Amino acid sequence: MYSSVLILHSWMRWAVVFLAVAAVINAARPSPANGALLGKAWDRLYMLAIDIQVLIGLILYFGLSPFTVDAMNNVAQAMKTPQLRFWLVEHAVGMLVVMGMVRMGRIMSANSKNPATARRRRLICFSIALLALLASIPWPGLVYGRPLFRFE
Ligand code: HEM
Repeated sequence: MYSSVLILHSWMRWAVVFLAVAAVINAARPSPANGALLGKAWDRLYMLAIDIQVLIGLILYFGLSPFTVDAMNNVAQAMKTPQLRFWLVEHAVGMLVVMGMVRMGRIMSANSKNPATARRRRLICFSIALLALLASIPWPGLVYGRPLFRFE
């Protein structure tokens, strides 16, 4: 069970990364004359992918991962161990920031009075989300690094 959920979470990351890059590119594209924001259907897909990924992450975090179970049993010690602190705090908080920034970008742009402000707000929030996403992924080579493509 743990291994299947981890594999799913690991591969879903690529969908999220792809949609995050697409969202920034769409947000940066100049708006047409009518001021409509481009790529809003892609934004909805991006939000959905993040929601699913966060849900799977929460299942790992509170139920399946031996790393977080270990870390929660001794938080003070875990905070001194980079490999455990990453899973206990940095990864989870970073990814929740991603989710929050994408939501904020969509809401703030929808509530903007003019198209230029809507476009700017969406671009800023989505860019911050992309940076937080890239910073929170356990890339190979880091002390808490993981494979790019997990098969088991
Ligand atoms: C956009 C959201 C997220 C992305 C892209 C993401 C990405 C990843 C990646 C790439 C891994 C490594 C998988 C591997 O070992 O191959 C991972 C593991 C993990 N993630 Fe996430 N994650 C996200 C959200 C979350 C959230 C919100 C939580 C917790 C609240 C979370 C908790 C975990 C845990 C506990 C592990 C596994 C630790 C273990 O190996 O047991 N993730 N995540």
